[in-house]
Amino acid sequence: MKTLLRTLAWSLAMTVLTSAASTAYAADSFTYVGAKKCKACHLKEFNSWSETRMAKSFELLQTGVSADAKKKAKLNPGKDYTADPVCLACHTTGYGKPGGFVSLASTPDLVGVQCEMCHGPGGTFIQKENMSLTNKEYKKADLVKLGLVGQITKSQCENCHNSKSPFFKEFKFEERKAKGTHEKFPLKYKH
Ligand code: HEC
Ligand code: HEC
Ligand code: HEC
Ligand code: HEC
Repeated sequence: MKTLLRTLAWSLAMTVLTSAASTAYAADSFTYVGAKKCKACHLKEFNSWSETRMAKSFELLQTGVSADAKKKAKLNPGKDYTADPVCLACHTTGYGKPGGFVSLASTPDLVGVQCEMCHGPGGTFIQKENMSLTNKEYKKADLVKLGLVGQITKSQCENCHNSKSPFFKEFKFEERKAKGTHEKFPLKYKH
């Protein structure tokens, strides 16, 4: 009887443990964390990204910025668009998603098009047991299950580079990728 009880208690404990683990990795925990978190381990990519136009694209929503372009697109250059939900969807990080941009006052670190808009929301894949300094040789396939984008594709860019943008221009993927994203630095490990 004692053994049976012990077995029962053990399997109960295991059930609790396993379900706790799967809860921690539920898709809704793939939250946005912001580029500052990535900067700690990816300083070179961060610095290079900071100079790109996408990194600075929130400023375009401010009053008076790019006034001529706005006039041509029939927008009002005298208007402040930094709280306009239509514009925020493409000029911030994770707008409307868990952990993502809410407003300039409450989430100032999520302005502009940051790392996670191309690489996926980092809330889960950058946890210690995943992509980290104690697990530098993670298997990429494991992280892809946790929200890391395995292969950055044209359709991902087209979430923003599409005709809903008042400034839409034809989007040639390879050309724009070479021109617009950060400098690439070889990885040290095989993943
Ligand atoms: C569907 C996504 C999307 C929406 C919505 C959007 N933008 Fe943009 N915006 C872009 C993209 C992408 C570009 C870059 C265009 C390119 O190079 O193809 C851009 C460029 C711009 C520029 C630079 C234009 C220039 O030629 O200098 C301004 C200013 C701008 N957006 C303001 C706004 C404002 C204001 C709103 C809201 C009224 C808005 N955008 C809504 C995606 C969007
Ligand atoms: C506009 C999209 C975009 C943004 C924003 C972006 N990246 Fe990347 N990143 C790429 C592309 C494209 C590659 C090349 C790999 C590929 O094609 O899948 C890459 C590669 C990388 C790599 C692999 C090593 C290397 O340099 O090739 C790291 C690490 C990385 N990015 C980190 C970051 C970090 C950190 C940020 C934010 C500070 C960031 N990226 C922002 C598109 C982006
Ligand atoms: C979250 C929305 C979003 C995503 C995703 C996105 N972009 Fe952008 N992109 C923008 C906005 C907004 C601008 C406008 C910045 C400006 O005009 O100063 C822009 C500007 C650019 C520019 C500068 C304009 C030019 O042609 O010189 C390039 C290049 C570019 N994006 C390439 C890419 C590529 C490649 C991808 C996918 C790997 C991508 N973008 C994904 C929103 C996005
Ligand atoms: C605690 C450190 C740490 C943090 C924080 C971190 N990374 Fe990483 N990342 C690493 C390590 C280590 C590697 C593997 C480096 C290597 O092989 O040289 C890596 C690799 C990558 C790669 C290459 C993926 C592959 O295997 O092809 C990308 C993309 C990336 N990181 C993006 C990000 C983004 C985006 C963030 C923020 C949301 C982030 N990282 C935060 C440590 C970190």
